[in-house]
Amino acid sequence: MSRIIMGVESSCDETGIGLVRLHDDGTVELLADEVASSVEQHARFGGVVPEVASRAHLEAMVPTTRRAFTTAGLEMSDVDAIAVTAGPGLAGALLVGVSAAKAYAAALGVPLYGVNHLAGHIAVDTLQHGPLPSPCLALLVSGGHTQLLRVDDIAGKITEIGSTVDDAAGEAYDKVARLLGLPYPGGPPIDKAAKAGDPQAIAFPRGMTGPRDAKFDFSFSGLKTAVARWVEGAQARGEEIPVADVAASFQEAVADVLTAKAVRAATESGIGTLVISGGVAANSRLSSLAAQRCAEAGIELRVPRPRLCTDNGAMIAALGAHVVAAGCAPSSLDLSANPALPVSAVSV
Ligand code: KG4
Ligand code: ZN
Repeated sequence: MSRIIMGVESSCDETGIGLVRLHDDGTVELLADEVASSVEQHARFGGVVPEVASRAHLEAMVPTTRRAFTTAGLEMSDVDAIAVTAGPGLAGALLVGVSAAKAYAAALGVPLYGVNHLAGHIAVDTLQHGPLPSPCLALLVSGGHTQLLRVDDIAGKITEIGSTVDDAAGEAYDKVARLLGLPYPGGPPIDKAAKAGDPQAIAFPRGMTGPRDAKFDFSFSGLKTAVARWVEGAQARGEEIPVADVAASFQEAVADVLTAKAVRAATESGIGTLVISGGVAANSRLSSLAAQRCAEAGIELRVPRPRLCTDNGAMIAALGAHVVAAGCAPSSLDLSANPALPVSAVSV
């Protein structure tokens, strides 16, 4: 008999409720994916304001849940298990989702699973492309994280093989957008502006690609500083900033480093599949360059559609379904949020 899993996401500025059906053969089907975003409330601050995000989750939780059940054509009593993001993320924001999930689980008398947001970004790909091969390599690129992960089992065994030593890739997009006078979040407007620019116009640095640098770690703060210096220099000379060229050249530097390191990691570990997920995976140049380099290296590339790449509840429901299918023990009702939950802790 198939089971219905509800997923609750509230780690940052998106309140997400997802509903999936876990079939007996282990495949997971998406039934509803409702998201309420507070991004507009943060835009004028140029970044997420934690207190504002927490309050927005509180207001959006019940209406978003109602919408998800309406979309799926299900009743709450149809739910067999609830998964919730236990971390990593903003403490106050996480607490709203964890508290809501506990209340729903207690009221419905169903098991509760606290799960990892980062693992959710990878698990979501199974909703679009089916079961993940074991092992596979995941490149997770979001506003808060930039990591290369070896995934042996999405429900239990994920190992970090590299990560950023400073800014996350998405954070670099957001900061560079601000320098160029583009709105927050910076990824989409830079992606758009770059289409009219020349990616070779300015030779921005490729961070951590020197012979003595850790092979699979990333650094984006030097790139951000290089863009800032370049823009300041042009302004000091009274020149107009060629926004499209700066955006395209910056974007090329980010996509170049991310794809080069991911393909190298896959090749050196003999892994045949690369999954790219997280908000920055929605970037058009990152996916086209990854497609080209993976094809050259004989690696299968999987990138979920943009809607699944950014934060949502379906990714948490999908991970919850894999955790349930693997027979993992549920969390206790005194589960707490862990803002710094490591990716190796897939469920807690
Ligand atoms: O995964 P996500 O929705 O939230 C976090 O967990 O952080 O990622 C948000 C990040 C933001 O920094 C945003 O600028 C970036 O993803 N982003 C993009 C694009 N769309 C969103 N970055 C580059 N190109 C895009 N098209
Ligand atoms: Zn995320």
